[in-house]
Amino acid sequence: MCGIVGFTGTKKAAPVLLNGLEKLEYRGYDSSGIAVRDGENNPVVIKAKGKLEALVEKTNGGETVVGSCGIGHTRWATHGEPSETNAHPHVTADMNVVGVHNGIIENFQELKDKLIRKGYDFYSDTDTEVAIKTIDYYYKKYKVGPIDALAKTMVRVRGSYALAVMFKDYPGQIFVARKESPMIIGVEDDSAYIASDVPAIMNYTRNIYYIDNLEMACVKPGEVVFYNLDGDVVPKEKKVAEWNVEAAEKGGYEHFMMKEIHEQPRVVADTIRRGLGGTVDSITDEGMGITDEDLKKASLLYVVACGSAYHVGMAAQYVLEDIANISTRVELASEFRYRKLPLDKNAIMVVISQSGETADTLAALRKAKEAGIRTLAIVNVEGSSIAREADSVFLTQAGPEIAVATTKAYTAQLIAMYMLAIKAGVARGVISGEEGARYVEEIKSIPTKIEKTIDDKERLQWFASKFSNITDAFFIGRGLDYAVCMEGSLKMKEISYVHTEAYAAGELKHGTISLIEENTLVIGVLTQAELIEKTISNMKEVKSRGAYLVGVTSYGNYVVEDSTDFTIYVPAIDEHFVASLAVVPLQLLGYYFAVARGLDVDKPRNLAKSVTVE
Ligand code: AGP
Repeated sequence: MCGIVGFTGTKKAAPVLLNGLEKLEYRGYDSSGIAVRDGENNPVVIKAKGKLEALVEKTNGGETVVGSCGIGHTRWATHGEPSETNAHPHVTADMNVVGVHNGIIENFQELKDKLIRKGYDFYSDTDTEVAIKTIDYYYKKYKVGPIDALAKTMVRVRGSYALAVMFKDYPGQIFVARKESPMIIGVEDDSAYIASDVPAIMNYTRNIYYIDNLEMACVKPGEVVFYNLDGDVVPKEKKVAEWNVEAAEKGGYEHFMMKEIHEQPRVVADTIRRGLGGTVDSITDEGMGITDEDLKKASLLYVVACGSAYHVGMAAQYVLEDIANISTRVELASEFRYRKLPLDKNAIMVVISQSGETADTLAALRKAKEAGIRTLAIVNVEGSSIAREADSVFLTQAGPEIAVATTKAYTAQLIAMYMLAIKAGVARGVISGEEGARYVEEIKSIPTKIEKTIDDKERLQWFASKFSNITDAFFIGRGLDYAVCMEGSLKMKEISYVHTEAYAAGELKHGTISLIEENTLVIGVLTQAELIEKTISNMKEVKSRGAYLVGVTSYGNYVVEDSTDFTIYVPAIDEHFVASLAVVPLQLLGYYFAVARGLDVDKPRNLAKSVTVE
């Protein structure tokens, strides 16, 4: 969840590190720090509590820090409160080893006790300080060099980590080690870069190397060498990152979230293109990452994910079951991974993840693979752990998503799942090829319809400004609309800190209705013709107890307007795909509520973009 950067080359390291950290701040932002070395001198370590600006100010944008080799870190606290002392980098008392870490060392207490017995002192509450001092301990004990010390530490520690470490005796070099937590290395001319994610170094290089689990690397100016746990050199292939630099900048918008909301039409079009694999209206095996044959044979689909990606699964379930007549079980990865359940070997598991690094989703994927279940990953980050470990991959075309609250990645994932449903429907003979092509044409209309939906944003801004001081809101809907409510509710709560809940409308009277008071905001999503009347009845029930009603519906469903206080329309579309449109006003509402409440939209408190710990 934290962000790591590193640089070694011929120019000043600190500005490069700060620039990279700025791009990684979405991963954690409760404190930050850098360590920079000038030749053989000991590193200068500078840390600051709070947002990165504090560190930028302290270092005058990096200009006052001399040295061309360094590491940096932006933190999302796991062990120890956010403070300057607990911020990374962490160092040994003699400055022999200095390092930064992303992940969790589970057996840190046991290691710490041992190191204390060996004479080490500790100044912080972090597991990272323990990891750095363990490396130092093995380095001094065996005297075989950094790779050996790292390998011995890796054998000893339990947990997840991406580590970037500098050793006193090795000026100009950074050593890295990885297990589970993401880490990439970029090499360009006489420079080399380390980062938790591609956007951090995209300004400098597109030449990327991926370090695998339980591997290490020695990074020097213009060069990187990889090692396995035995210390043998591992050959690696260079990859070229396709994302462009502009995609990771705000491009004139006040917040990344708003920019990413506006990018959705493009993202949908690109994701559809990917699935069509060069054809006009049929979803190809290569495009989708899975064959008709596999889909035909599948007895069941497990769809496993976290957060918004789980909500995609919830919405897709209705589409898959209806269009492809395939039983679909949608599971939270954090629950699925520990559940003892009979797994059906003839099923396909679809994991959905923007980052491709979510620890629980990765663990669920591994559990399925161990059980002999075929796995398909719907993932946005090429080269991520999930993308590399799944049997097959559909790469969503959202590009870098920076705002912690997902918008365009959610939308791209939905599109991927629609395509899976259409492909499975045709493959399993539930719908004809012509019907499949008609559905494809329908999803091709989504980009223009999202644009139209966004055009209505000023009305939503006005509404948010009127209601921004509320404390609670409820999102209700039935069927697919309920799945949309789950995402709308999460969008609002995670960035505006309004307490929100999503309820299946029919469930309200089983308990939740007791929370309704005068002017409680209830947002109903009503897009499924068959269910509109039912949900309206539920809305009337809360109205008569004082609720203020907002209805989100498609043009044509004018009955909703008669029963609500404020109505939001989205363009009409085949009802299977309406989530792609109905979610947009809810994303905008969440955004405008957060802005009206004066909050940091892109970096909500306590959250991190990529949840690489369980
Ligand atoms: C949603 O806005 C959140 N950022 C979060 O729920 C996210 O969808 C979840 O953590 C899953 O992340 P992933 O897609 O990278 O696996």
